Amino acid sequence: MSVHPSEDNSSKVKRVTTHQLQAMKVRGEKIAMLTAYDFSMARILDQAGIDVILVGDSASNVMAGHETTLPITLDQMIYHASSVVRAIQRAFVIVDIPFGSYQGNSSEALKSSIRIMKESGAHGVKVEGGEEIQQSVERIVKAGVPVMGHLGLTPQSIYQFGTYTVRAKEKSEADKLIRDAKILEECGCFGVVLEKVPAALAQEVSSVLSIPTIGIGAGNGTDGQVLVVHDMLGITQDFQPRFLRRYAELGSTMDAAVKNFIMDVKNKQFPNADESY
Ligand code: KIV
Repeated sequence: MSVHPSEDNSSKVKRVTTHQLQAMKVRGEKIAMLTAYDFSMARILDQAGIDVILVGDSASNVMAGHETTLPITLDQMIYHASSVVRAIQRAFVIVDIPFGSYQGNSSEALKSSIRIMKESGAHGVKVEGGEEIQQSVERIVKAGVPVMGHLGLTPQSIYQFGTYTVRAKEKSEADKLIRDAKILEECGCFGVVLEKVPAALAQEVSSVLSIPTIGIGAGNGTDGQVLVVHDMLGITQDFQPRFLRRYAELGSTMDAAVKNFIMDVKNKQFPNADESY
């Protein structure tokens, strides 16, 4: 008999599932989501009680130092995702399918998601776009893979838009976003990220959809919030958009710690007798 992860009483911690995320929306309980790309960070987030971990293709920026999310490969995403999955007991883990691994080819989309699920052990995938990727979403969902959509500012299309400014301020773009959100829900997506869109629009989309919306720079009317963990911890210091709240200043803390270490080594203060064998 197969046992669903959420029904496995042998493990003390119950895993978050798409059904629970849906139930949270119905109850009005907000969903907390953060990115992670490695084992150590994922363990901290999971133990703190985060609901969802996104192995975002923002790894391309944050971990690899690229200017955009475009260069990261499927193999690299699987490497990051499997490191995260090894750390978690409770959180639902979603992985971005990277640029070039799903757009315009639903067979490629299906193959990429199956590789992610099989090789990393993650619980779902995320894709950017609406109507244009409808076929891909349908095929992935039919294969039994939970899919999260992503609308508004979609960083994989940055060269089409040209800027990282707020999206869907114009009525025609807002109407398309609402249409796309409904299409994603009809295709079977279990949730949608809304990035950098007006708060009123995000609220409207959240009330129209029965699946949860997760906002980033989309106001307080979405069903949950996501931030890039290095941004909210103050590790990335040069990125300060209006929507970002920094919950710690780890960049400065780490800078001071490293400077203290250098000083102690230079002054022969480290290690001391207690730190030696
Ligand atoms: O890649 C990422 O980190 C994301 C979030 C910003 C939603 O897609």
